[in-house]
Amino acid sequence: MDKKKIYVVYDRNVEEFALKLAEGRPAFPIIADEEHKTMDTVLDICRWLLAQGADRDAVVWAVGGGVTTDLAGFAASIYKRGVRYANFPTTLLCQVDAGVGGKTGVNLDGYKNMVGVIKFPIYTRILPEVLKTLPPRELRSGAAEMLKTFIIENKNGNYEKAVRLLSEPEIDFGALAPLIEAASAVKRKIVEQDPYEENLRRLLNLGHTYAHAIEWHQRTHGAPDPMTHGEAVAVGIVQAALLSERLGVCKSGLADKLRGDLQSCGLPTELPCPEEELEPALWKDKKAEKGIIHFVLIKKIGKVIIKDLDDLHQPAE
Ligand SMILES: NC(=O)c1ccc[n+]([C@@H]2O[C@H](COP(=O)([O-])OP(=O)(O)OC[C@H]3O[C@@H](n4cnc5c(N)ncnc54)[C@H](O)[C@@H]3O)[C@@H](O)[C@H]2O)c1
Ligand SMILES: [Zn+2]
Repeated sequence: MDKKKIYVVYDRNVEEFALKLAEGRPAFPIIADEEHKTMDTVLDICRWLLAQGADRDAVVWAVGGGVTTDLAGFAASIYKRGVRYANFPTTLLCQVDAGVGGKTGVNLDGYKNMVGVIKFPIYTRILPEVLKTLPPRELRSGAAEMLKTFIIENKNGNYEKAVRLLSEPEIDFGALAPLIEAASAVKRKIVEQDPYEENLRRLLNLGHTYAHAIEWHQRTHGAPDPMTHGEAVAVGIVQAALLSERLGVCKSGLADKLRGDLQSCGLPTELPCPEEELEPALWKDKKAEKGIIHFVLIKKIGKVIIKDLDDLHQPAE
């Protein structure tokens, strides 16, 4: 890759790593949090690219977590009607999820990811050593998405291997690296077949129906220590397993097995509020899809199915 064409946009919390990677190329630090995940930051990136003389053949490198790759990917997608970008994810969540899906975008007036486009990075480079500085809670959040991916597709016992490694008090990042690549590849394979989430991509929403409802509940009730997204996904996976058992989709005992695995990886598994309080958010989701939730149920580890439900106990007509 011609060095002169590359422009590095990075999360200032990973500055040392990013500048080493940049090797003197033009680099632009951003504040990577949800408040700054806005059009203003996208325009700042575009103005910087313009000031640098970036042309149509530019490649933007996004170095950071999902906030950074969503922002830089979106800026690259609209700058001069679109230039290429590549991701260097620095969180586990971004390595296995945000950095591979091609979804880019920003928040609008406090609503998450309301504006954006789907444009795939030209590549996503996974450098596991950067995870060593990641706060443990962020690491566990990514771990939940990784385990989710292996519940969807479990080749070579990757799920069991991941649970074993992620349960260790000290994570062996070298040993984790092939599993990160494997999870990333599963996601890439699914989104390439269905980039606009019309069918197959919905499988990746395993655990997310309840996770989104939990996140909504925590936002609206001002939870003092809200769960991270991955933590909410872990709880959502257990709820999906319980529902799968109730509907006879899987053998009983699956929810207990998953609960034990997720707990051993330091993840929560219990709803943070009474289930009835989540109903408005679950129902809101249903309204958007004409009263139907495309719920991802688990047959067994490595095999999930989508069932259209019009409540969370009965299959739809
Ligand atoms: N595009 C998609 O398909 C997709 C999928 C999932 C999530 N997302 C988005 O991703 C965002 C969440 O991303 P995330 O969980 O990767 O985290 P993030 O980008 O929010 O980063 C989390 C925190 O960790 C810091 N950080 C990042 N890497 C670090 C490192 N190596 N060492 C120390 N600190 C580090 C960041 O500065 C930040 O404070 C959300 O905005 C979400 O909407 C997008
Ligand atoms: Zn998620």
